[in-house]
Amino acid sequence: MSRLVVVSNRLPALGKGVAAGGLAVALEAALKDEDGLWLGWSGKTNDEAAAPRLQVEGRVTYAALDLTQEDIAGYYEGISNSVLWPLCHYRADLLEYSRGDMDRYLAVNDKFADALLPMLRPDDLIWVHDYHLIPLASALRDRGVQNRIGYFHHIPWPAQDMFRALPRARCFLSAMLSYDVVGLQTRADVRNLRDSVEAMRGTLEATTPPRGTRIGDYPISIDTEGFASRARRARNLPRIRDLYQQFGQRDLVIGVDRLDYSKGLPERLRAIEQLLDNHGGLHNRVSFLQITPASRSGIEGYDRIQQEVAERAGRLNASYGTLDWVPVRYINRAFSHSLLAGLYRLARVGLVTPLRDGMNLVAKEYVAAQDPEDPGVLVLSQFAGAAEEMGAALIVNPYDVEEVANAIARALTMPIEERRDRHSVLMRRLESYPVSTWARSFLHDLTPPETRERLSLQAADPP
Ligand code: G6P
Repeated sequence: MSRLVVVSNRLPALGKGVAAGGLAVALEAALKDEDGLWLGWSGKTNDEAAAPRLQVEGRVTYAALDLTQEDIAGYYEGISNSVLWPLCHYRADLLEYSRGDMDRYLAVNDKFADALLPMLRPDDLIWVHDYHLIPLASALRDRGVQNRIGYFHHIPWPAQDMFRALPRARCFLSAMLSYDVVGLQTRADVRNLRDSVEAMRGTLEATTPPRGTRIGDYPISIDTEGFASRARRARNLPRIRDLYQQFGQRDLVIGVDRLDYSKGLPERLRAIEQLLDNHGGLHNRVSFLQITPASRSGIEGYDRIQQEVAERAGRLNASYGTLDWVPVRYINRAFSHSLLAGLYRLARVGLVTPLRDGMNLVAKEYVAAQDPEDPGVLVLSQFAGAAEEMGAALIVNPYDVEEVANAIARALTMPIEERRDRHSVLMRRLESYPVSTWARSFLHDLTPPETRERLSLQAADPP
């Protein structure tokens, strides 16, 4: 039986008591019954070259690779987060490219390839995750690796005209065509990538022998049933019980986002301001909770957004707050999944209004956490990948703050029948395409056709 080899920039947090992150949950089923290997950055810097440290948990060996300070600067902070991330989120204005960073990005991908090579078996399926590691397949091919290699891009793929702003765009595209399967979150992403390939076809073929790369959409999801039951249980957590008491008469509106300029947080706060301006009756009756763990500090754009959001939230509270009502609680720390599940269930409205997002699993978790008899309402940006599947949410343009304000007002006053109807449509979709199906359908396509039937992985319905 072939082994699954996962490669991602970050490794899942190991050890008891640590809640698994999105990718670890997504791959849990695929890694449960087969032997597996997962290679990633250890999160540590080490200027001495060293082989990855191995740790075995269940049937999976985790291999943690140290990187040097220069690696982090050029590969992680540089090309990954100051070039590919802003570009894929349509923020070419934030792009900071240097040839030195690009050399380092390629060198770190070579480092990953060198670390993986001695551990590979001939029939391993290799599954690479996210934009940090786009050139990994070509680095492995250069070392003679013939295995099937797949790549999943967790963030948006930009339109061709935006993609052209990427220095060495051709190098990235030919790297993509070294994979056997390339997975994207949405049909729109697939169209964008195909357009870019089409536009550069002639020159790409000169450098990359065609492998017949399959490019498809595989929208990532969550463990819907697991999350729903976590939310039901969370009702009994003492912290959540206190909050039910505290919020009492007030309706809770929740937003949970990593602190990032792509999440549309200033626009969201402007929409809240607009709502409070237009609807005096909501004063003292609604509370906004924005949970925003800080991230990538020190990278252009992140420190600025941190300051802007904090100032806006402060000004809003100063203008509208009263002695016994703070309209917006803005918190820069992460919470456990259980607590979040409980908060989602308590919230009347879930606000997911990014300016651009690959998928956005908060939208799915919010829906899964609701009480089907008395569900809250999801307000969802048309620019989140999730909007392709979740048309029964209130879909908004996050740049139109009046539209968002009106949607929040509508959500707060929506009749129970409409809330139930919308929720049941959204839940049906989540239940019919759970995250295990996401992993299975990608791996099905990655498996060589002649051995597919030998695998326990069953073919999944197309999403
Ligand atoms: C996004 C990316 C992931 C990344 C995560 C956190 O979800 O798609 O690849 O791991 O953000 O960002 P960080 O830079 O902290 O790893």
